[in-house]
Amino acid sequence: MITLQNIEKVYRTSSIETLALNNININIRKGEFVSIMGPSGCGKSTLLNIMGLLDEPSKGSVAIAGQPVKSYRDKELAALRNQKIGFIFQSFHLINDLSVLDNVEIPLLYRPANGKSRLDHAKEALEKVGLSNRMKHFPRQLSGGQKQRVAIARAIVGNPEIILADEPTGNLDSAMGNEIMSILQSLNDDGATIIMVTHDESMAKKTHRLIRLFDGTQVGDSLLQGVAGAGREWQGASMPSVQTLPSTPKL
Ligand SMILES: Nc1ncnc2c1ncn2[C@@H]1O[C@H](COP(=O)(O)OP(=O)(O)O)[C@@H](O)[C@H]1O
Ligand SMILES: [Mg+2]
Repeated sequence: MITLQNIEKVYRTSSIETLALNNININIRKGEFVSIMGPSGCGKSTLLNIMGLLDEPSKGSVAIAGQPVKSYRDKELAALRNQKIGFIFQSFHLINDLSVLDNVEIPLLYRPANGKSRLDHAKEALEKVGLSNRMKHFPRQLSGGQKQRVAIARAIVGNPEIILADEPTGNLDSAMGNEIMSILQSLNDDGATIIMVTHDESMAKKTHRLIRLFDGTQVGDSLLQGVAGAGREWQGASMPSVQTLPSTPKL
C-alpha cells in the first residue's frame, strides 16, 4: 500500500547538513498496524511525513498502491493526501477558536459534498471516538485525551484508508493513552492501515509490526504477537517491484 525504496532525506541549513534518513526500504501492507520506535532525532517524524506525502525524500521513491508519487501532479497529490490519509499528532493541532464539531469538519471543506452533509459526517466521526456529547465545546474546555479524540475524529472524518499517528499518546497519561490506543485498534479492526510513531514499548506491543530506527537507519522490522509469522526477524526488505503492482491508485 505504501512502498518506500532507498529513501534518503537530507536537511540542509546554511551551517549544517543532517542525514535524517538513510537507505530506508519499507513496504506497508493494507490493513497493517505498524509502530515505529527509536531515540529522539532518529528520523521517525521525517519518515512519517514522507509516508504521508507531507514531505519529499532527497533520494529514493515512494509509491502508493504501486503508483509512484512522483507521477502525480501537485493537485492530484493534495487530493490523494486529503482523501486517503488521516494524520494525528502528539500535540493535537486543533484550532482553538473553532468548536469540536467545526474542527472535525475541516478536512471535508476541501472536498465536493457527496450527498450526506459535512455535519453528518463530522457527527458520525465524533460518535466513533465517543465524543458526541462534546460537539459544541471548544478545545480549551477538553482534557488532553478528549482533545486527541477530537483529532482522531478529524483524521477519520473523510474515511481515509491510511492513518498516520506521530506519538499520539506522547502527551497523555497512561489511562488516556490506553483509551487512544483502543480507538486506533478498533479503527484498524475496521480496515484502516495504521502507522504509529511511539516512545512507549507497551503501546508498540499492541501493534502487529515494529520498525526500529537508529540515526536515520532502519535497524529492525519484526512482526509481533498474534500475527502469522510472528517473531520472524528482519531479513532486509522484500519489496514488490513497483512495476508489478496495479497502476490505478486504488489503495
Ligand atoms: N526541517 C528541518 N530542518 C533541519 N533539520 C531537521 C528538520 N527536521 C528534522 N531535522 C533533523 O532531522 C533529524 C530527524 O528529525 P525527526 O524526524 O524529527 O526525528 P524524530 O521524530 O525521530 O525525533 C534530527 O536530527 C532533526 O534535528
Ligand atoms: Mg518526532
